[in-house]
Amino acid sequence: MAQHELFQPLTVRSLTVPNRFAMAPMTRQASPGGIPGADVAEYYRRRAAGGVGLIITEGIRLPDPAAGYPYAVPTIAGDDVLAGWRRVVDAVHGEGATIAAQLWHQGAQRDDVDGVVPVSPSGVDGLGRPKGRALETDELPRVAQLYAEGAVTARDLGFDAVEIHGAHGYLLDEFFWERTNLRTDGYGGSLSARTRFPAEVVAAVRAAVGPDYPIVFRFSQWKGTDYTATIADDPTQLQELLCPLAEAGVDMLHPSTRRHYLPAFPGYDGELSLAGWAKKVTGLPVIAVGSVGLETQFRSEKRGQVIRPAPVDRLVEQFDAGEFDIAAIGRALLADPGWVNRLRNGALDGFTGYDPATALAALN
Ligand SMILES: Cc1cc2nc3c(=O)[nH]c(=O)nc-3n(C[C@H](O)[C@H](O)[C@H](O)COP(=O)(O)O)c2cc1C
Repeated sequence: MAQHELFQPLTVRSLTVPNRFAMAPMTRQASPGGIPGADVAEYYRRRAAGGVGLIITEGIRLPDPAAGYPYAVPTIAGDDVLAGWRRVVDAVHGEGATIAAQLWHQGAQRDDVDGVVPVSPSGVDGLGRPKGRALETDELPRVAQLYAEGAVTARDLGFDAVEIHGAHGYLLDEFFWERTNLRTDGYGGSLSARTRFPAEVVAAVRAAVGPDYPIVFRFSQWKGTDYTATIADDPTQLQELLCPLAEAGVDMLHPSTRRHYLPAFPGYDGELSLAGWAKKVTGLPVIAVGSVGLETQFRSEKRGQVIRPAPVDRLVEQFDAGEFDIAAIGRALLADPGWVNRLRNGALDGFTGYDPATALAALN
């Protein structure tokens, strides 16, 4: 595999990823006080040493209490926190890999536990129940600014890119989704109105980081509360959703799916994945993700159950067909930090799969 194009570099603006493998963003809850410690740097360093070209960090809480309840999830403000991230960035760069910071605002999924009221487009959660409060129209620029400030801090820390988390039913996805966006102020209703605030966030980030700094945007059809949810029902809707983001300054899209190989719109094409469609309708480079190297999709595993390895033939076929530019790997990299080098060296036979209990307990 070492000679395959999957092991050739990709350049997106100022970012050159040495190969086509990313580590998918995975929350660890291992940064007490929001501070990523030396163990966090070592955790990412091991994946970089194991062949990953682009580390995408776990979701990083934007520095606003409403953005997320701590639970040892890292943030991106304060001297100790920034020193911790510098150590992470240096450790990853020391292995020849690159690193993007995932910027996260949890919206209505923030736990309502410590006297901070969760905020969201319409004050309803992913099940349509009242929760927290709706953001006022005149508060939106400040929220967009939070992403911009987080991105500038990430850039100044030496992160090679930022990823805006617009997936899985968190704040920006709550704007996209009809169930959680009931606004009547021009930020809700039609698909283009629901895309407006996420596009304004991208524009604020672009204005703040300058023209060359890479912005990745993660989105998903599925939500944490509903795996069957959709925000685009056909390729035309997908184009309406994504083109304003591209025009606002997104450089690379990261459609989050639970199985990378499933056709996104079978009525239109029996093969093309969401990554393939996202690339086709925008022309942007894309990251594919979901069950790479594993037979069972994210969150369908039962505790303690070993998920068997799966072949990567379909992934290679999709890449050769030009459907995606980078493959992101999640659980397989929790189970084996050296999974990418295994593939490169033709040693996937030795990969035993993913045991959630062991992988999550160790998270090493
Ligand atoms: C423990 C764990 C934590 C996760 N945390 C995040 C997160 O912080 N941000 C995010 O966008 N996705 C998160 N995800 C989803 C992954 O990025 C990825 O999309 C998913 O695991 C599917 O990829 P896989 O099948 O290769 O594991 C998480 C997944 C796992 C297993």
